[in-house]
Amino acid sequence: MNIQDNYLTLADGQQMPQEGFGLYKVDGQGTMTAAIQHAFEDGYRLFDTAQLYGNEAEVGTALKQLALPRDEIFVTTKVAEENQGYDRAIASVKESLQKLQLDYVDLLLVHWPIERSFFETWRAFEDMKKEGLTKSIGVSNFEMIHLQYLATQAHEMPVVDQIELHPLLTQKPLLKFNQDHQIITQAWSPLGRGAVLGQDVLKQIAAQHQKSPAQVILRWHLQNGVSFIPKSVHEARIAQNAAIYDFSLTPAEMAQIDALNNYQRTGREPELVYEYNRQY
Ligand SMILES: NC(=O)c1ccc[n+]([C@@H]2O[C@H](COP(=O)([O-])OP(=O)(O)OC[C@H]3O[C@@H](n4cnc5c(N)ncnc54)[C@H](OP(=O)(O)O)[C@@H]3O)[C@@H](O)[C@H]2O)c1
Repeated sequence: MNIQDNYLTLADGQQMPQEGFGLYKVDGQGTMTAAIQHAFEDGYRLFDTAQLYGNEAEVGTALKQLALPRDEIFVTTKVAEENQGYDRAIASVKESLQKLQLDYVDLLLVHWPIERSFFETWRAFEDMKKEGLTKSIGVSNFEMIHLQYLATQAHEMPVVDQIELHPLLTQKPLLKFNQDHQIITQAWSPLGRGAVLGQDVLKQIAAQHQKSPAQVILRWHLQNGVSFIPKSVHEARIAQNAAIYDFSLTPAEMAQIDALNNYQRTGREPELVYEYNRQY
């Protein structure tokens, strides 16, 4: 197995790469095009952007410049809080598609749950999928309570839940819930934005396998069966993050990494975003 032929099957039947490439804070056309080019050459096929990142147009230009075959890439974008609600969500996704220079995205996510337009936004997502603006629909930063609430009115449930997930925030109960409900968990900040890399346990395991701490963490995600989307703008790290298919962690090593969990978030608390109706 390698990054390029490692796909997960979503509940709607679509295939999604297990490992993808994060684009948050990849800014400037030169940096964007170079990052996507290196990533594609190294076998990444999933590219994760969002309205909030303000770089959809740069992603679109990069995909055009590099002439990447549409059916070989998997593009995700996310609807920002300010664009939630039935009409606004649809209008904003049409604008995103224009910026991305695409007819459809592969995966469309609700970026954060908010109370104000919780159900209307999802109704728009179901309709956008029917219209072909996206192949799959999912959510991000939804906890169990949000998924259970959504299920009271949804005709179709999300096939992906993209959440903050790394060794300092292992989210085991939510992972199990998602698995039990045919929702693929996708880890954002899979490296904890770098905050986890200095942990002694990870350094020791890395030395054992002649790999870097970042590679050990990504391998841990891989063996947990979740999808994950590391970001880097450095060529060597982009390559390194894809080179995790030639070693494996033992059950004891997996348990040592699990034990680093201390409920430490780098991002917002989803329930508070839900109540405030915005990222606070
Ligand atoms: N849904 C959401 O709410 C949400 C929130 C946050 C992020 N995301 C998505 O998840 C993606 C990944 O998360 P993230 O960007 O926050 O964090 P991340 O992927 O956990 O970490 C990225 C950081 O780690 C560094 N890094 C990458 N590979 C490395 C390596 N091999 N060795 C050492 N350092 C390394 C990067 O630096 P360099 O770039 O300088 O190499 C960057 O500072 C985002 O890009 C975005 O697409 C989604």
